[in-house]
Amino acid sequence: MGRMQDKVAFITGGASGMGEMMVNLFTAEGAKVIAADINTDALKAKWEAKENVEYLKLNVTDADNWEEAMKTTADKFGQIDILINCAGISTEKAPADITLADWQRLHDINSFGTFAGMRAVVPYMKKVGKGSIVNISSYTALVGMGFNPYSASKGSVRAISRAAAAEFGKDQVRVNTVFPGVIQTPMVANLESSKAALEGLIKMTPLARLGQPEDVGNAVMFLASDEASYITGAELVIDGGFSAR
Ligand SMILES: NC(=O)c1ccc[n+]([C@@H]2O[C@H](COP(=O)([O-])OP(=O)(O)OC[C@H]3O[C@@H](n4cnc5c(N)ncnc54)[C@H](O)[C@@H]3O)[C@@H](O)[C@H]2O)c1
Repeated sequence: MGRMQDKVAFITGGASGMGEMMVNLFTAEGAKVIAADINTDALKAKWEAKENVEYLKLNVTDADNWEEAMKTTADKFGQIDILINCAGISTEKAPADITLADWQRLHDINSFGTFAGMRAVVPYMKKVGKGSIVNISSYTALVGMGFNPYSASKGSVRAISRAAAAEFGKDQVRVNTVFPGVIQTPMVANLESSKAALEGLIKMTPLARLGQPEDVGNAVMFLASDEASYITGAELVIDGGFSAR
């Protein structure tokens, strides 16, 4: 029996990168997964034929959309055991070029999206009497890497996750956060074109490589699972030691 047998897991950002990897890892361990994303074409291409995966269009900045998505999932599966808030965007803009609209958009998706997801799922988890939420922040929330709204939005994810862990512990809803370092996904594909940037990053990483989506996916699966049943409010850095230096 898999570690995720009979669990219903809702994963945002499920059309690409780490979210996509998590959908595969969770289903391999027996979960029923709802892959949610704003990119319906990618969702369809990746999940239409996959057993135990449903896909669903979700814009994480839309609170009504969250409410509908939770209701649809609960109506169909009877429960929602796990929420992984993985959808996110970053920016390549230099600090001087960042506008208020850029700042707002990054916070809308990365920060409000995470908050709105937790707010929408908790009532369903309370009904079951327990639940597990894992939020994806970033190492840039912890170390001075990137004077931009991305770091700030991921710092916000950290703060609201701790607040949620404190708030919902009494309901047996656990909330944990992971802080990936540089992980090879479409989000950082541009790095591949800069050999010097890649080599620089690897040199600064004690484990001397970039992260892979499964490095994060496996850690998220542990935190989401019943193996972590006394862990809430935890912050797990998955960056090959980058931020330990
Ligand atoms: N790749 C890295 O180096 C890295 C490092 C630290 C943290 N992260 C975080 O990890 C998470 C996953 O990133 P990834 O590298 O897999 O990126 P990715 O670009 O491969 O995947 C992100 C997914 O989020 C979806 N998305 C964007 N806006 C959305 C919205 N409004 N509603 C619903 N879905 C939306 C995209 O369509 C995409 O499928 C993100 O939160 C990212 O900030 C990434």
